[in-house]
Amino acid sequence: SGDKEEDGNLTVPEWACQRVARLVHLNKKLTDAIEVLQEHAELRDGHQDYSRALAFRRASCVLKSLPFAVQDVRQLEGLKDVGGHVKRVLSDLLDNGSSSEVQEILNSSWYQKMKLFTSVFGIGPSTAKKWIDNELESIKDVKRNSVRSSDWRVIWGLAFFEDLNSPVLRSEADRFLSIVQQEAEKLLPGVIVQLCGGFRRGKSSGHDVDILLTHPKEGSELGLLHNLLLALEKKDLILIGHKEKSSFRQEILFQDFKLSMRGQLDHFEKWLGICKFPKSFQEQRLDSCLHNDDSNSNSNCLSDHAAQDLDSVKHCEHSEADTQTQTQGNSQLHKASQEKSSEGTVPTCHSLNESFDGTSYEPSAKKAKCGSSLDACPDDLADSERDWVARRVDLIIAPYSQYYYALVGWTGSKHFNRDARLYAQKVLGLKLTSHGLFDMAKKEALPSSSEAEVFHHLKLPYRDPEDRNC
Ligand code: CTP
Ligand code: MN
Ligand code: MN
Ligand code: MN
Repeated sequence: SGDKEEDGNLTVPEWACQRVARLVHLNKKLTDAIEVLQEHAELRDGHQDYSRALAFRRASCVLKSLPFAVQDVRQLEGLKDVGGHVKRVLSDLLDNGSSSEVQEILNSSWYQKMKLFTSVFGIGPSTAKKWIDNELESIKDVKRNSVRSSDWRVIWGLAFFEDLNSPVLRSEADRFLSIVQQEAEKLLPGVIVQLCGGFRRGKSSGHDVDILLTHPKEGSELGLLHNLLLALEKKDLILIGHKEKSSFRQEILFQDFKLSMRGQLDHFEKWLGICKFPKSFQEQRLDSCLHNDDSNSNSNCLSDHAAQDLDSVKHCEHSEADTQTQTQGNSQLHKASQEKSSEGTVPTCHSLNESFDGTSYEPSAKKAKCGSSLDACPDDLADSERDWVARRVDLIIAPYSQYYYALVGWTGSKHFNRDARLYAQKVLGLKLTSHGLFDMAKKEALPSSSEAEVFHHLKLPYRDPEDRNC
């Protein structure tokens, strides 16, 4: 964290992954404003916007790690991550309480519509732009104009838009997690079931539930996801989803980052989907502080920062993988191709009815209802009276030998990963992914049997998950 040197120069470790970044920090007003600029640049998705977005992210990241509340931009002298543009915005904020540049973005209808449309599951900036070009203004418009997407994420994301855009509470994540733990343990005794993502970093709400599974006996995890989905289906917890086979191959380990990742964030077997969370999951249980496997979960139960977290629940695009090692052009390409990628592979209601050898899951009760008109079925379900809420869930299976790298990767934050990967490459000449850490020159992997060991190999001070909120 930051220090004042005698000459007045501020020193903060160069890399975000070397710093402590907490959810609750002293410069939230400033970082919120900078993150509007970042998001705006990300949504514009134009030529220089990718690097502009990154520059804003770096600036907000450094502000999160400062041990004092900034009162004057002169206090930021010597911070290379805070450039002239950001300083002007910060001055505005500090002098006037608001920034005209930020206000203009917030008030612009383009930004508002882009935010709205990209908050639909499966929708990225390029489709959102098309909708705006077609003069659509609201989710209602999108539905009415029956944008006939063949992407299951979009079909169900639109039908359950309200559900999916209301924050997932910590209590819901905990309740669902314990069911997954129970069912997985029955199927594979000794299984490790770990809540990851924002909740593991201490957030009291989120946009989805990320659960990583493994087993110390490597290989025994094969088939687990399939059976776990059957068990959850039997408990009527599954709405819709898509199972991805592992695309992991030994040959890719020492391949160039861009090549091996092809815009994906990892190659694990996983299920990305939407679950039916009973409304009762939203009730805080007294024991929910006790059963969590995170050592730092106590504070989460107090919901102390609930209000602050609620407005930081943001849309997230798993489909919009990027790493800093990608060139800008590449990342645009990836975005475009990823948005399209699942079109055509998408389950119709017919293919949904197929056995679980396929990749799609849908509740058996509904199968009868939607034999013919596939567009009608999700909407019928969404409009019907129900005692559950649709929630995004990611289930990821990692072989144990890769588990601790997967754990770091799926814990995030996104920017922490991005920074750590770039740091590994630039400073150590190593390739860091969710599968491992690789010495490209020696063609050698550096295995880890704990998160601490991952940090050790990276020559980084160990950071608890709640300190990785950059
Ligand atoms: N992640 C990943 N590979 C993916 C998708 C996500 O490694 N295919 C990582 C992300 O970089 C992030 C973490 O897994 O660090 C969780 O992703 P996500 O759910 O998108 O973000 P959260 O940080 O959990 O935020 P939220 O609370 O909004 O869910
Ligand atoms: Mn999304
Ligand atoms: Mn998440
Ligand atoms: Mn997720």
